[in-house]
Amino acid sequence: MRIPHELQLAIEQEIAKVDRKLLTQASAYLTRQYQAADFTSPVITSAAQRAAYLAVRLPATYAASWHVFSEVRRLAPEVEISSLLDLGAGPGTALFAGAEVFPAIRQTTLIGSDAALIDLGRSMAAQSSLPAIRNANRLRHDLRNGLSRSLHDVVVISYTLGELPQSAAETLVRQAWNSAQEFLVLIEPGTMRGFGVVSAARSLLIASGAHILAPCPHAAPCPLAGSDHDWCHFAQRVERTSQHRKLKGGELGYEDEKFSYVVAARKNVSSAKARILRHPRKLSGHVQLTLCGPHGVASQTITRSQKNSYKLARQAQWGDAWDGPEHVS
Ligand SMILES: C[S@@+](CC[C@H](N)C(=O)[O-])C[C@H]1O[C@@H](n2cnc3c(N)ncnc32)[C@H](O)[C@@H]1O
Repeated sequence: MRIPHELQLAIEQEIAKVDRKLLTQASAYLTRQYQAADFTSPVITSAAQRAAYLAVRLPATYAASWHVFSEVRRLAPEVEISSLLDLGAGPGTALFAGAEVFPAIRQTTLIGSDAALIDLGRSMAAQSSLPAIRNANRLRHDLRNGLSRSLHDVVVISYTLGELPQSAAETLVRQAWNSAQEFLVLIEPGTMRGFGVVSAARSLLIASGAHILAPCPHAAPCPLAGSDHDWCHFAQRVERTSQHRKLKGGELGYEDEKFSYVVAARKNVSSAKARILRHPRKLSGHVQLTLCGPHGVASQTITRSQKNSYKLARQAQWGDAWDGPEHVS
């Protein structure tokens, strides 16, 4: 996927305001900080770091939000989404994606603690063709100090929960769930740590009466929780601009953003029958799938003789729902 052209232009306008050398240094710093997952103090503190976030992280976090929102829309097309609350919104990344995926969105609220990042997001949004983005209500608030109930169809916390102390994160998940009229979407980096944050929140939400829409095809305990070598995560490919390539020092024309996520639903909408947890192995005459289903993780081989399933399996991708007739049961 490619981020919308007008968002790309807005990013370019903002980063052009920052000295090139400072931007390159800040990009390298952010990459290191996020890789180290060191959140003992705020990661983004200077104008150059804010611009670097737009340049090297926003396309990837946009891609993850877009992927997850698209899965919500695919699994629950009948649920109309007209409002969105983003907690730890940064420049408003999830709204940029949400407004594309849910065109009926009208009312939007973004909350973050960094006033300068809120201003930056407002400046970028001013040029959007989508009223939901232009007219968002942007509030400065420290989420560690609690959140009053504010009902929205979708509440999203994207790449933020893991930056909070564990007890504050738990409280925030409960409060966010109280505000979610239809769905609560949690997205974290696709690392073992990010998965741990998502998995803990999933358990808490199930205990609070939530239904799980995605990625899990069940609300049983996660079969990968507590594993020391495996974790549930997915990837979304996003095109890189030449500027992005230079700042990240990469050669490829795309990057694969890895993320873990969970979507909790207020109503019991049906989830997938199973979820594909790895790249399918597409071999001669058969496809091997690693599937998560109601009874855990299992591998399944689909052969050419299973005509319809085989056709589906040849097209299947890591992270897709598997609704083929042969599934983990
Ligand atoms: C990695 S950025 C993610 C931004 C955006 N959600 C995205 O997906 O691109 C983390 C954001 O969480 C915000 N944040 C961290 N701690 C916070 C807190 N205690 N209260 C409010 N916002 C917080 C930061 O200011 C930053 O904007």
